Amino acid sequence: MHNATDLGGQVAHAIALKGISKTYGPVTALHPTDLSVEKGEFLTLLGPSGSGKTTLLNLIAGATGPTTGTILLDGCDITRMPPRERGIGMVFQNYALMPHMNVFDNVAYPLRARHQPANTIRAKVTEALDRVGLRGFENRKPRQLSGGQQQRVGIARCIVYSPTIILMDEPLGALDKNLREQMQGEIKRLHKDLKTTVIYVTHDQEEAFNMSDRICLMSTGQIAQLGTPDELYFEPVNEFVADFVGESNLIEGKVTAANTVMTSDGLTLVVCSTEGHAIGSLVKVLVRPEKIEMIGRSAPTVTSVRDNACAGTVAQTSFVGGMTRIAVRCDGGRILRIKTVSSRASDCAPAGLPVTVSWAASDTVVLKS
Ligand SMILES: Nc1ncnc2c1ncn2[C@@H]1O[C@H](COP(=O)(O)OP(=O)(O)O)[C@@H](O)[C@H]1O
Ligand SMILES: [Mg+2]
Repeated sequence: MHNATDLGGQVAHAIALKGISKTYGPVTALHPTDLSVEKGEFLTLLGPSGSGKTTLLNLIAGATGPTTGTILLDGCDITRMPPRERGIGMVFQNYALMPHMNVFDNVAYPLRARHQPANTIRAKVTEALDRVGLRGFENRKPRQLSGGQQQRVGIARCIVYSPTIILMDEPLGALDKNLREQMQGEIKRLHKDLKTTVIYVTHDQEEAFNMSDRICLMSTGQIAQLGTPDELYFEPVNEFVADFVGESNLIEGKVTAANTVMTSDGLTLVVCSTEGHAIGSLVKVLVRPEKIEMIGRSAPTVTSVRDNACAGTVAQTSFVGGMTRIAVRCDGGRILRIKTVSSRASDCAPAGLPVTVSWAASDTVVLKS
């Protein structure tokens, strides 16, 4: 049955996956998964290689059929609909252009496949090439274009028939860093102009953060966490998320009282909240490296030391341009990683320097151990 709203009579999502899964023989590429994408949203599937991102995208596109579950497009069940009838656009990492066709014919291809009249085709191809900055390249063959230009053709070919949903599988994966950043900006601008729903795949955390309204972080064929970039960074639900998104210090300990965690070497930590963790349970306290302050041991004043403080010595300092990374070995042996905005003063933290490190309770997150 095709019906225009999701169960419950609410406004339909652009895409709603219900219990969707995929197995290949003994391999589970995707465990049963629920995921809804809002209209006009830019959602990114982020995760390490093999985590099931492409599988999820191919299921939505119809390139492969699910083992279990249902896919709703705008409230209609498309689980068994052939790919071409879904009206979903796809952009691939390897561009997938037809090498013997020029740019115009590559971009015109989906319109010709839909038997559109010649004058409509000319107008739409011209508009699409305009949008990706490739007017004047109509007669070139793909091999006469740079990687970035080839991917612009791939994007033009996708947007030319105004799909309501665009899927992109690591579209910038083959480009160098500077070009990738430029293309990220262009794709974001296109998304804003076209107001299309985009589901984007990348394994690059910065790319995901830069582009997305929400991120669906995947791990071993499952959703590890779904949320805004802000939520994933500041409220990771587990150690995998904390580690994949940004850098982290994870300090093991036991909850001994409300908002208090004691480490095995006797350090008492004041944390933001121990809600959801019973007294006596083992936890890991997350502190981001940029939230730890380092103070010279000689003069820690009352105001400069925050809720948590620990004495140690500098183990290593590395200057990486705008940021300086410092590893501090706390008395007791634990290494804490610190990240600060570089200054000439941070050059003066040689290995062996005695220091006090300090961080606020509000900058901690308590995770299950
Ligand atoms: N056609 C297939 N046959 C067997 N296993 C597959 C097939 N496609 C994907 N897989 C497996 O499913 C898992 C997820 O793959 P994939 O979705 O391509 O991950 P990602 O895109 O995140 O790198 C991997 O373990 C992969 O080896
Ligand atoms: Mg993939």
